[in-house]
Amino acid sequence: MSTPEPADRVLSRASLAEGNPTAWFDELYTAAARGEAEVPWTRGKPQADLVTWAAEHPGEGRRALVVGSALGDDSELLAAAGWVVTGFDIAPTAVEAARVRFPESAVDYVVADLLKPPGEWHQAFDLVVEIMNIQAMPRDFRPAALTSLAGFLAPGGTALVSEVAEESTDVETWVSPPWPFSRAEIESIAQDGVRLVSLGTVRDGARHWATFTR
Ligand SMILES: C[S@@+](CC[C@H](N)C(=O)[O-])C[C@H]1O[C@@H](n2cnc3c(N)ncnc32)[C@H](O)[C@@H]1O
Repeated sequence: MSTPEPADRVLSRASLAEGNPTAWFDELYTAAARGEAEVPWTRGKPQADLVTWAAEHPGEGRRALVVGSALGDDSELLAAAGWVVTGFDIAPTAVEAARVRFPESAVDYVVADLLKPPGEWHQAFDLVVEIMNIQAMPRDFRPAALTSLAGFLAPGGTALVSEVAEESTDVETWVSPPWPFSRAEIESIAQDGVRLVSLGTVRDGARHWATFTR
């Protein structure tokens, strides 16, 4: 008997075929809430590289924006480290789940689309965290997503970006999503006054880890 295909594969394929690259996220979170699917990126704890970074970078009341906040673990980590955090996700079910998981949270969890962000977020954040979200959208959307991302960063702030490193993948056999990033694509976030500060890899070269400032 063959193993059933995971729900994220089935839902993303249908969503992409319909020309809607992001509908499947909420469908997947909704199916997971009913116990009918697993969300493969759910860790139940903050992302390990962000934990290391946050330990050395207290927020001291500065504003942070977490892109693709999912179930809230990274946002809560930063709030505990003194950042005033907004976490946003395109999936209303994920945003609601984060609010339910952390009922006393100081984090402002909102539904928003990286491709159409609120105007008041322009250059409004001292820290912008983008971990493995833009890579979850097809490459056609990448230039617009990177422009939005760069636009969130306030002067003097820091943007953290981590995506699967294309250089570590076998492009012949790779099945998307996600769509990995080349080093040059990570560097292209340095636009409109944003500068690359550092670019390396973590997880034995599997993921880019980059920092930017304005
Ligand atoms: C692969 S998950 C990564 C979640 C989290 N950042 C992590 O590291 O575990 C991608 C997340 O981004 C959200 N997302 C996808 N496209 C988005 C968009 N255009 N705007 C905002 N959130 C988006 C999805 O709903 C999902 O929660």
